[in-house]
Amino acid sequence: MARHLITSAIPYINGIKHLGNLVGSQLPADLSARYLRARGHEVMFICATDEHGTPAELAAARAGKPVADYCAEMWDVQKRLSDGFRLSFDHFGRSSSARNHRLTQHFARRLGEAGLVAVVAERQVYSIEDERFLPDRYIEGTCPNCGYEKARGDQCENCTMQLTPAQLIAPRSAVSGSTLLELRETRHLHLRQSALRARLRAWITGQKGWPVLTTSIALKWLDDGDGLQDRGITRDLDWGVPAQFPGAPWEGMEGKVFYVWFDAPIEYIAATAEWADATGAPDAAWRRWWRLDEGAEDVRYTQFMGKDNVPFHTLSFPATIMGSDEPWKLVDYIKSFNYLTYDGGQFSTSQGRGVFMDQALEILPADYWRWWLLSHAPETSDSAFTWEGFQGGVNKDLADVLGNFVSRVTKFCRSKFGEEVPAGGAPGAPEASLCAALDARLAAYQAHMEAIEVRKAAAELRAIWVLGNEYLQEAAPWSTVKADPDRAAMQVRMGLNLIRLYAVLSRPFVPDAAETILRALGCEDWSWPEGATAALEALRPGHAFTTPDVLFRKITDDERAEWAVRFAGAR
Ligand code: 2FM
Ligand code: ZN
Repeated sequence: MARHLITSAIPYINGIKHLGNLVGSQLPADLSARYLRARGHEVMFICATDEHGTPAELAAARAGKPVADYCAEMWDVQKRLSDGFRLSFDHFGRSSSARNHRLTQHFARRLGEAGLVAVVAERQVYSIEDERFLPDRYIEGTCPNCGYEKARGDQCENCTMQLTPAQLIAPRSAVSGSTLLELRETRHLHLRQSALRARLRAWITGQKGWPVLTTSIALKWLDDGDGLQDRGITRDLDWGVPAQFPGAPWEGMEGKVFYVWFDAPIEYIAATAEWADATGAPDAAWRRWWRLDEGAEDVRYTQFMGKDNVPFHTLSFPATIMGSDEPWKLVDYIKSFNYLTYDGGQFSTSQGRGVFMDQALEILPADYWRWWLLSHAPETSDSAFTWEGFQGGVNKDLADVLGNFVSRVTKFCRSKFGEEVPAGGAPGAPEASLCAALDARLAAYQAHMEAIEVRKAAAELRAIWVLGNEYLQEAAPWSTVKADPDRAAMQVRMGLNLIRLYAVLSRPFVPDAAETILRALGCEDWSWPEGATAALEALRPGHAFTTPDVLFRKITDDERAEWAVRFAGAR
């Protein structure tokens, strides 16, 4: 028994996430959490919404709602969808929580006291009519490169050129449209992360077995002059964690909040505290996951994220932790993902291109998506979602292989022996070789799951399902039953036990189907197999079951064609 802390990158609050977001962090994190729980480990699985920053403020403004109300509503939406996908978080927190405010200010104070925060004077755009400084994204104007009239002060959406507000032609406030703008001096907090470069390098290069994707991005940013520059960690916004607070080792930060990327990863810790609050547990209960001096020495901490998040998790957040000079737990393993493409292009939130979490659940149950997405997780390279691929994967793997096996065995048993496990004779050589093959594949499956090799694990699981079909085909109880009913009974008993074994092994991938199967089998034994031979004796002769309905239906060509049109864009 070990203790595993698992966090998934926390999704931005603004809007519903698409399937590419889902497969890039939350879904594989859930797979891992479910697997480790099934193996008897103690797991703390944490996610939250990332609620601060200009995107949240702008989205709230577009929705015509106060930002706090907007975030509360969107949290409900995201929570409902993550439940719909059966993401088994121990807690789904909010980065706007009181816990995160306190903890973010705590870290900032510690960093300040360690001399790692500098107060820097900057000239920044001030809107006289709005009576506020404007963050870069709050300034609009004409792009000097392409002439697009709604370019933002940080980037032109039309031609993707990175911009500064000073480059915009005819700049105006995105808040009010006012052109009465001027440059004014203001002061911001900068985190002196470059002072931690040597410690960060030693820590990163000391990690064994991290995915190449993770380490290569981390080292590139560490060595590239830009990567570890001292960064501004405050912004002129109302919504966020106030940068001026009692006990702060600086003055004059009124009206400023911390930068969203400063407080977001701290929410991993804060959300664990929120979990304790929600369950009525004492502080010690969450601190034993995070404080090395309070029990976290034996915790293994794994983070899941898309590759764009890697610099913040390999450099910025560790810099916060190291700079605090307190014994907080650092991550042990960072599992990062490439991107999922949609039909030869990109998923696009602004254009509504691709399938979003709400839409996915409207058209098919969670297990169909979970299986396809996980078995095609973009691990070593980007992977491509196409409707043909999705249809093929679901119809072949789930309907033809797993679903068909369950259906054939239970239906045959019902027709010949009734709805209870038949006795029959002792297993023979074919069963022994089935068990040997299962044991080998089971060992490989476990190894891949432990190494978080998601696609390889899925392939192995599928191969385990195939073994059952091959056994059934060769044993052919429908023929055996005529000459040797006892033997056919034994074969069916094997088949029914294989179904139970499949439910246990498949549960991390397809939890709903697994639960449907075990319910139909009238069995609550979720114990992970020690070995195939013993596992195939779990259901004893005489045990009653019911024949389940179709586990997975096939996706038709008409549906495929209709969905391809429906999700092509312009949501
Ligand atoms: O990329 C994103 O969706 C960010 N909201 C991830 C933040 S992860 C962490 F820092 F909390
Ligand atoms: Zn442009």
